[in-house]
Amino acid sequence: MLHPEWICIVDFGSQYTQLIARRVRELGVYCEIHPFHLSMDAITANTPAGIILSGGPSSVYEEGAPRVPETMFELEIPILGICYGLQLIAVHHDGAVDPAARREYGKAELNIDSQEDLFKGVSSDSVVWMSHGDSLSRIPSAFEVIAHTANAPICAIRNAAKRQYGVQFHPEVVHSEEGKTILSNFVYEICGADGGWNPRSFIEQSIEEIRETVGDERVICALSGGVDSAVAAVLLHEAIGDQLQCIHIDNGVMRKDESAQVVQTFRDVFHIPLTFVDATDMFLDRLAGVSDPEEKRKIIGATFIDVFEKEAAAFRDAAFLAQGTLYPDVIESVHFKGPSATIKSHHNVGGLPERMNFKLIEPFRELFKDEVRNVGRELGIPGHILDRHPFPGPGLAIRVLGAINRGQLDLLRDVDEIYLDEIRAAGEYDNIWQAFAVLLPVKSVGVMGDARTYEFTVALRAVTSLDGMTADWARIPYAVLERISNRIINEVRGVNRVVYDISSKPPATIEWE
Ligand code: XMP
Repeated sequence: MLHPEWICIVDFGSQYTQLIARRVRELGVYCEIHPFHLSMDAITANTPAGIILSGGPSSVYEEGAPRVPETMFELEIPILGICYGLQLIAVHHDGAVDPAARREYGKAELNIDSQEDLFKGVSSDSVVWMSHGDSLSRIPSAFEVIAHTANAPICAIRNAAKRQYGVQFHPEVVHSEEGKTILSNFVYEICGADGGWNPRSFIEQSIEEIRETVGDERVICALSGGVDSAVAAVLLHEAIGDQLQCIHIDNGVMRKDESAQVVQTFRDVFHIPLTFVDATDMFLDRLAGVSDPEEKRKIIGATFIDVFEKEAAAFRDAAFLAQGTLYPDVIESVHFKGPSATIKSHHNVGGLPERMNFKLIEPFRELFKDEVRNVGRELGIPGHILDRHPFPGPGLAIRVLGAINRGQLDLLRDVDEIYLDEIRAAGEYDNIWQAFAVLLPVKSVGVMGDARTYEFTVALRAVTSLDGMTADWARIPYAVLERISNRIINEVRGVNRVVYDISSKPPATIEWE
């Protein structure tokens, strides 16, 4: 547990659970998401200031519908049930839910019956976001109704003495105009939280915890140069100094000069002990002649583990492996849908800790990317590292389509550098989620001077997105595209045609492979 004061969010599989966590932390209170089948020890080991029961797709009377232990309601910890959470509160007491009630999706006007505690300072006709099938049909006897809507006579309930509250709507969603005030009322007024959680307090608490966990052992960390591992390395270095040993592996499929920059930044600027391994030959030898994208990913993942294992052997006394794993990487699915088809396998270093018998340190397991960036800023990491676009583990190997070779990788590096330089110069970089070039296995005819050319085509891809799950193509101004295209064709030998990818995801994906 990273913070003495926390709110426990119990997840029943709602698409909005992560938003609840975000909102609570934005309010300055640390919180963690736990699956509904959490053991009560997780709660009683370090009593949270409050519990929020999330929404979820189930219907409370359905067979196998998720429940929580009855004892949770006897802990004397304030509880807020949201949507499914409200219905759970009802059926765990003597209320009733009507599964055949009218479904309600979208905005509704909340009529507040009691403007105290949960609804303090909330206007009586506040707009809230509804998204539910079932509704409460009977209020539990110790509770009272504190708000209703035109369609939901029981829209919010409370048992003030026990500090248990339930709302049918979703205060965590932006469409609930005063949702933040409602969550703030729960966290501060009802749970009595002190607040004060922010990147600085996170760093201080984490440093304390890392020191306690690590003692005088050594920790190794695979530093890719991406945001998450960079921030993890700097945080660990603050905590344990030179007990940290970073390893950076050049896999031969990085962007131009990327490895040199990583070494320069972390070794020379942050003074972090760093081993640099140029494993280009091994990676490219193993990738030679392989054209299937998934096969390329597997080879890169496995080769990374081989190289890392060999290098880490020099630090035999290291007991821990640090990783910049984020919350979205670890969510176990408590969603009640079947396993979705694997479109692309994104696991780059999976299996490493088990194979090498490391204990794991993952300081950002509960955080989202933007929170890690804020921690990085607080640690003094420069913006050009923190604000960079995501870069896939298999790197340029999935951006040279089909089988790859050194010449093509070098060509793509030159194209990519021009593309990103121009996007930065035009002030477009920060408006774009990801921008990169793809080398197509397509040659076409061109004319240069008076001569015929027959050379490669590159595709430029730039997308806007919030989380990489869906994406739209970025509307880069024509003048900028024109400059990029001219420069690429004039400056990079071997390319005579540039095309711009205007497909959205879905149905296309962001990467071409
Ligand atoms: P797609 O192409 O699936 O990409 O729309 C979504 C996001 O994931 C990144 N990506 C990867 N990241 N290993 C990674 O670490 C991979 O194998 C991989 N494949 C795609 C992609 O760059 C985008 O940000």
